[in-house]
Amino acid sequence: MQNDHSVNVTVIGLGPMGRAMAGAYLDQGYEVTLWNRTPSRAAELVRRGAVLAASPAEAVAAGELVILSLTDYDAFYAVLGAVDPAVLAGRVLVNLSSDTPQRAREAAAWAAERGAVQLTGGVLTPPSGVGDPASSTFYSGPREVFEAHRDTLSVLTGTDYRGEDPGLAALFYQLNMVMFWTALSSYWQALALADAHGITAAELLPYARNALDLGRFLDFYAPRVDAGHHGGDVDRLAMGLASAEHVLHTVTDAGVDGALPAAIVDLFRRGVEAGHGDDSSSRLVEVLKKN
Ligand SMILES: NC(=O)c1ccc[n+]([C@@H]2O[C@H](COP(=O)([O-])OP(=O)(O)OC[C@H]3O[C@@H](n4cnc5c(N)ncnc54)[C@H](OP(=O)(O)O)[C@@H]3O)[C@@H](O)[C@H]2O)c1
Repeated sequence: MQNDHSVNVTVIGLGPMGRAMAGAYLDQGYEVTLWNRTPSRAAELVRRGAVLAASPAEAVAAGELVILSLTDYDAFYAVLGAVDPAVLAGRVLVNLSSDTPQRAREAAAWAAERGAVQLTGGVLTPPSGVGDPASSTFYSGPREVFEAHRDTLSVLTGTDYRGEDPGLAALFYQLNMVMFWTALSSYWQALALADAHGITAAELLPYARNALDLGRFLDFYAPRVDAGHHGGDVDRLAMGLASAEHVLHTVTDAGVDGALPAAIVDLFRRGVEAGHGDDSSSRLVEVLKKN
């Protein structure tokens, strides 16, 4: 990768993610300017050569590329709202803060009104994956701005440009998070049930890895869903409902919280009650669309 070390990079937001990002730029020899609401979080990075700005405006002014790694877009406005638009003008704001696609679009418009450009990002790795090209971040916004800064952004993770709409990176990120949080919650649920029976996480680990390795199911269902094919030739929703009820009863019999399996039973039951008991459980995609 060709890195342009003449680019001064500013990192605003020094949670675990922002600190990892600033560290990755320092590792590659970039000039790095920092700002964080809680300045003490910058201490280690300053020891390594970063400059801590006295204000958000000073931080924005120092960096041609301004990376924002904040909790959400409320924090984005809290930090940049007070910055003189003359300072923002001409800056590229790489907003890697998580929020909704709509809020990403609004922030891009807010930036444009001040003469700045927002590239929206959705980071798909924990801080430990920052600096690893095998990790990935979704980006969206003006293509030429993304291309101009692709190499600098590639210091953080691999890049996956989704398109011009500033909401797209947030949308693809949220699509991932729908799956991530739901799947991870299923793991917490299984661990609570396992613990109720004296089974440790270590003992369950190989089975959990296998259960959550859903790739072959996704490969099977994706073309069928796109073709609107929900035939019950492989699985039937009525069978799924019975199975989901067995899960719920096993959980509640053990005295474990059943809110999550109850929600799944409710979903499957609505599908069956809508007359889809003989279809595949993939019919639930259609059921969910009709909320
Ligand atoms: N951590 C992960 O594993 C992970 C993975 C993928 C994506 N992400 C996303 O990356 C972003 C950053 O992650 P993180 O774990 O570093 O988040 P975090 O722990 O929530 O920290 C984010 C930063 O936001 C700042 N902040 C929050 N509210 C603020 C406000 N009102 N005004 C000024 N600053 C404010 C915090 O400042 P203070 O230090 O002063 O509190 C901190 O610097 C989030 O959007 C997160 O969803 C995180």
